[in-house]
Amino acid sequence: MKLWGGRFETGPSEIFERFSNSLHFDRRLIDADVRGSQAFARSLTRAGVLTEDECRTIVDAFDSIRADAADPAFFAGATDEDVHSFVIGKLGQRVGALAGKIHTGRSRNEQVSLDVRLWLRDECDHSRALLQDLMQALLDLAAKYPHAVIPGYTHLRRAQPVLWPHYLLAYFEMFARDFERFGEARRRTNVMPLGSGALAGSGFPHDREAIARDLDFAEITRNSMDVSADRDFALDYLYAASVAMIHLSRLSEDWILYSSEEFGWMELGDGVTSGSSLMPQKKNPDSLELIRGKSGRVLGSLNSLFFTMKGLPLTYNRDMQEDKEPLFDAADQVNGCLEMAACVAESVVLKEQVPFDAADESWVVATDLAEALARNGTAFHSAHQIVGRLVLESVRSGKKPGDWNAESLAAFAPEFTPDVARLLDPREGMKTREILGGTGPETVAAALVTARLRLANLV
Ligand code: ARG
Repeated sequence: MKLWGGRFETGPSEIFERFSNSLHFDRRLIDADVRGSQAFARSLTRAGVLTEDECRTIVDAFDSIRADAADPAFFAGATDEDVHSFVIGKLGQRVGALAGKIHTGRSRNEQVSLDVRLWLRDECDHSRALLQDLMQALLDLAAKYPHAVIPGYTHLRRAQPVLWPHYLLAYFEMFARDFERFGEARRRTNVMPLGSGALAGSGFPHDREAIARDLDFAEITRNSMDVSADRDFALDYLYAASVAMIHLSRLSEDWILYSSEEFGWMELGDGVTSGSSLMPQKKNPDSLELIRGKSGRVLGSLNSLFFTMKGLPLTYNRDMQEDKEPLFDAADQVNGCLEMAACVAESVVLKEQVPFDAADESWVVATDLAEALARNGTAFHSAHQIVGRLVLESVRSGKKPGDWNAESLAAFAPEFTPDVARLLDPREGMKTREILGGTGPETVAAALVTARLRLANLV
């Protein structure tokens, strides 16, 4: 069905049609298009354009179109310009000339905004539900090893000992912020644009608040030109998706490293790893590598829409049809990655002793020692120097923290009082970090309890 043509002497060239048609991807919006069109029919009826009978005929026909669209064969051979034209064509086949009234005063510019908003609102909910599953998987993984100690890193150099649950709770915080961001994207999306016309506002007396109620929108848009020109809501979703992908990518990078032979801390489940076609011994972390790889793809989608929108004159321009493929792809990728990451987390086996030994044999306790000296009255700068010399001496003579004791420490520097020696054990220093947000064991246990409550109460 062509929604225009009277002004033209010849039809579009085959090349232009092939080049510009979007049905092969925007058919994904058919459910939204039908729901929106049914609400528009009801609004036209309230506005006196359609009779109650006509409205019922149209709404029923749309119901049958929606049911038929579940079968991909429904689209076979269709040459329509886009999903909006396709749906009206199908309506025409079912209700005849009456179909010519459904588009009264309506523009595809507002229709495409409505359809994408309806679709994206559900995608936001989907992404948020998957985030909750992932956060749950992280808390479960933390609870499996509540007392495990690992070296925390800066510059990928062993820095200070932390509890395994404390490390996982760092990602919990990131995903909690992502949950908020998807919620914010949903709020910006959940605004009803119909009644805007092509750009100047509808010429028919729609009750726009009633359309919003009909389609369960929280608000209505306030400027018809803004509606035709705006894709901010899509950018908001793509930004939320991109930040979530960065978090997923960093988690993947961590676990690719931690499960390597070089680190050897953890085993990923057979179900989320792959073998090599040549090297029989390989067990590769492909699931995590794909998440890391797909993060680039989602960031690319955000940038794609940024560049599409930059510099477009108000209001609608056909360039904006290029919003959909990146948006659809980003939603598929982020949702797929969230699901995959939760599955990987469920499969992780931590070999507790390995990261503990990594902490124990390195000088991650150095800060604990320096702080103890400072608590005993030594100026922190001097304490830092003394412990720095202790580390230098140990590195030279191949000593680990465990090779020192109260006597040898006191002999090294009189500032080392006997009570300081217990801090050579990485588990001990953590007990001095019972500060809100710190890795103190009691603090982390409480943070885990709070995290479970927060997750249960996320809205
Ligand atoms: N398919 C178009 C899009 O996705 C919507 C149609 C509006 N087209 C137009 N020429 N005004 O943006």
